[in-house]
Amino acid sequence: MAAASPRRQARGHAGAAMAARALLALAAAAAAAALGPAGAVWPQPQVERAAPSGGRCRLLPRRFGFAYAAASAVGPGCAVLDQAFWRYWELLFAGARSEGNEQPWGKPCTQLLVSVATPGCDGFPSLDSKESYKLSISEDSLLLSADAVWGALRGLETFSQLVGRDEDGTYYVNETEIVDFPRFRHRGLLLDTSRHYLPLKAILQTLDVMAYNKFNVFHWHIVDDPSFPYESVTFPELSRKGAFNAITHVYTASDVKAVIEYARLRGIRVIAEFDTPGHTLSWGPGAPGLLTPCYSGKNLSGTYGPINPILNSTYEFVTRFFQEVNAVFPDFFLHLGGDEVDFTCWKSNPKIRAFMQEMGFGDDFTKLESFYIQRLLDIISSFGKGYVVWQEVFDNGVKVRPDTIVHVWKENATPYMQEMAQVTKAGYRALLSAPWYLNHISYGQDWMEAYQVEPLKFEGSPEQKDRVIGGEACMWGEYVDVTNLTPRLWPRAGAVAERLWSNATVRNLQDAYVRLANFRCELLRRGIQAQPLFTGYCDHEFSGF
Ligand SMILES: *[C@@H]1O[C@H](CO)[C@@H](O)[C@H](O)[C@H]1NC(C)=O
Ligand SMILES: *[C@@H]1O[C@H](CO)[C@@H](O)[C@H](O)[C@H]1NC(C)=O
Ligand SMILES: *[C@@H]1O[C@H](CO)[C@@H](O)[C@H](O)[C@H]1NC(C)=O
Ligand SMILES: *[C@@H]1O[C@H](CO)[C@@H](O)[C@H](O)[C@H]1NC(C)=O
Repeated sequence: MAAASPRRQARGHAGAAMAARALLALAAAAAAAALGPAGAVWPQPQVERAAPSGGRCRLLPRRFGFAYAAASAVGPGCAVLDQAFWRYWELLFAGARSEGNEQPWGKPCTQLLVSVATPGCDGFPSLDSKESYKLSISEDSLLLSADAVWGALRGLETFSQLVGRDEDGTYYVNETEIVDFPRFRHRGLLLDTSRHYLPLKAILQTLDVMAYNKFNVFHWHIVDDPSFPYESVTFPELSRKGAFNAITHVYTASDVKAVIEYARLRGIRVIAEFDTPGHTLSWGPGAPGLLTPCYSGKNLSGTYGPINPILNSTYEFVTRFFQEVNAVFPDFFLHLGGDEVDFTCWKSNPKIRAFMQEMGFGDDFTKLESFYIQRLLDIISSFGKGYVVWQEVFDNGVKVRPDTIVHVWKENATPYMQEMAQVTKAGYRALLSAPWYLNHISYGQDWMEAYQVEPLKFEGSPEQKDRVIGGEACMWGEYVDVTNLTPRLWPRAGAVAERLWSNATVRNLQDAYVRLANFRCELLRRGIQAQPLFTGYCDHEFSGF
């Protein structure tokens, strides 16, 4: 240790000097633009036409409001938008120390009129939700139109990023017209609440920041080996014996409901993951007989492996458990995991080996894994739900439904772009996460690497490319809890958000740096403890102490 550490430090400093030189140009550009251009939107809209007139519209907080257009198919009483109007007013003006100058140039704009073409407020967002919108800002009127409430939410976020303040502190917005829609339909963020428990508040705040970034899927990796914080109504022993603390470190049914509703109000789907048959050690104490007993030679070793796939009781348990999960989580999709099944314990168990012989599986334990997954998928299908699985399920040749979504996460086993090609060639839809493990950190601006990924950069037909429905940034929890979650996520996850929302041609690092630094300052203003990209300052520094 003592010998190694000076060398590591020396390398660190050399790296820092190099990084600093390489970034000089970027830093100069950012400094020139102070905080970057006011009104630069993150993620960048698809089409933005700034009006040549250079006109602007001033906003007086006490006289400004959001309202439904007469022609809108949804109106007052629509909770999704009523609450968004309130939230965005607060975000824009709540911190205002003054109204700004009440008598300056021009007449103020008093309303942003919102028009939604299709009715529907009470439902949940889905993979097919329409998120497109059009924002027309002129000196005479502010108009936001969208096909569905979900697009209106995205447009409100964009509007909130367009508003600036002049030298007198007066709020204003420049004339512009924005036509916007997402490039990919599934833009997710994974949080891991098993390796460390994340308090409800941290999850809700993450949902807020996801909405600022136009993310639309919260992938809740809710349980895993280390702990089982999900409080099951059907099997209360699971969290009673499997949570870090059965009182303080659990998500009750009402917590889960709160997360789902909070997400819905922001146009975010909640996809829960209950990963099996591996990653289930925490299930064991609360579900006797579920896990495979491991052997040491001829004796039981006292330890447990993956779910025991050879017992009928396993499938009875799984059916009842997922019946509950099916009812609790309204999204059409569940994430069923299926990754990293360790065969050591199965191999050690004589009853499992006998079953393998009986079934003619030989020594191929992937066949036993497939046997389990196959039955699990049939159970989930019988509930009328769809599923997402980690790539191993596909790699091991499990027969899955044609509408299965395969989640690509391995960086090097097969180069991940090759895996994307194989998955889509086989006709399945694909989600990309391999290059977006944001729990991995390194010195310097590692957001750039995430930003430069191009999800469709593989050999394949246009049909194959169409099967890439998006991707997810992942924040695994080995080294992350509520103390460092937010700064580690933001603004780094913003790189993934823009890659998944904006046009593929939006990839200029210098331009992105300026906008992302600006957006990060806006996050600080909104009270989010987002870490800096590089040297610099914000008008509103973080002041959450
Ligand atoms: C408005 O436009 C002016 C002129 O292009 C620009 O300097 C300013 O930063 C813009 N402000 C906002 C809030 O977009
Ligand atoms: C198995 O248990 C028996 C009885 O406790 C003991 O004598 C034997 O050494 C154990 N064998 C192994 C391989 O651990
Ligand atoms: C398990 O279920 C199958 C089919 O339902 C049945 O044939 C078999 O006898 C059962 N095995 C045990 C040990 O109960
Ligand atoms: C993306 O940008 C390119 C270049 O500006 C443009 O040709 C293309 O139509 C855009 N794609 C979409 C879907 O708007």
